[in-house]
Amino acid sequence: MEELNAAVSAAPAPTAAPSGAASPAPEPAGLDVATIKGDFPVLARPVHGRRLVYLDSAASSQHPASVLAAMDRYYETTHANVHRGVYLMAEEADRLYEDARTTVGRFIGAPHPGEEVVFTKNATESINLVAATWGRANLQPGDAVLLTEMEHHANLVPWLMLAQERQLQLRWLRVDDAYRLDLDELDRLVDGVKLVGLTVMSNVLGTLPPFRRIADAAHAAGAVVLADGAQSVPHQPTDVEELGCDFLAFSGHKMLGPTGIGVLWGRRDLLDAMPPFLGGGGMIRDVRLDGFTPNDLPWKFEAGTPPIAEAIGLAEAVRYLQQLGMLQVRRHEVELTSYAQAVLANRFGGDVTIFGPDGTDERGGVLSIAFRDVHPHDLAQVLDQAGVCVRAGHHCAKPLMRHLGVTATARASLYLYNDEADVDALADALAEAGSLFA
Ligand code: ALA
Repeated sequence: MEELNAAVSAAPAPTAAPSGAASPAPEPAGLDVATIKGDFPVLARPVHGRRLVYLDSAASSQHPASVLAAMDRYYETTHANVHRGVYLMAEEADRLYEDARTTVGRFIGAPHPGEEVVFTKNATESINLVAATWGRANLQPGDAVLLTEMEHHANLVPWLMLAQERQLQLRWLRVDDAYRLDLDELDRLVDGVKLVGLTVMSNVLGTLPPFRRIADAAHAAGAVVLADGAQSVPHQPTDVEELGCDFLAFSGHKMLGPTGIGVLWGRRDLLDAMPPFLGGGGMIRDVRLDGFTPNDLPWKFEAGTPPIAEAIGLAEAVRYLQQLGMLQVRRHEVELTSYAQAVLANRFGGDVTIFGPDGTDERGGVLSIAFRDVHPHDLAQVLDQAGVCVRAGHHCAKPLMRHLGVTATARASLYLYNDEADVDALADALAEAGSLFA
């Protein structure tokens, strides 16, 4: 096994400033984006004969070669099912899978990573797990759940479904004119609620709500707090205890990892008391014809063969992020967001509306824009001809779109491999669109 671990850690290391994953990262001068770009094979491909300018990482991020290599290596040298075999290769696969759990857990400051980190399919499944198990076990007709108007459908629909099934009362924190949550009525709204579900970073507006303040109010009211970290965990340091949540859901594919894997972190006492989610192999300790005994944490929630290669890929993605330093990633994105805001304002003035807070201290690098009266889908197609990838649509946040009074936006989202040249390319492509739709 030691040999195998050596082979795994011999994966091509990120070429950006190194730091020890276990010890606090030293403060390098900033991200060396030119070198980072070289770590991502896909960024070398042209699109329509133009340089690929990938500005859609809020939908799904790209992969460094080290992540792809870790997954290849697992399939080429170690593939076997986990938690089932007693032969060497199966034990090696077991170890890689469980080590991945610990790596991911430490990345988010989990106090008990080996028990509290559940691998799911994606953030959506993680939230559905909480609604279907904690929700069904703890919510009775008339109970209240507090959500926000800026949630992704992943943190809306599971609660709407449960509300219908259990006759729950849903309450809402609304979005104000500055694209922040309106907290004027927080105390009244939180009073008597059983659960508060809240995004850490809006996938449309980039807004970073004052999470801790809301979590503290929720806890004071006796509620459990579920954090949707799909957009935040990839982009800023995360510590579940500092955040003040009881559950945290996020996805691998938005943080340089593969698709098909998500994470649910939950407080051990809560997870322990929850019934299982999906039934099948792996999640049981015993099965009789008249019933079953669930397995220990976290396997109680992992029915069937889990995403083994994906967990290994996600752990490698975490190592890549740790070597850069999440504080550095956040700083880079703050600077680039600020640059993008200035460039768009200077070049297009009132022709461009950015839906999101102005201050970079209260937002992430998600820029949802309206450009004159050009339909976002038309805009995205013109940008594509220039090699610029953005997402156009409702971004799985229809209630928020209604609040904004639009059916769609064009969304450019920034990550660690983007630089000022990418933002300039976006602005040049917008100018081309401007001429086309003049
Ligand atoms: N949730 C992803 C997005 O915002 C897919 O684009």
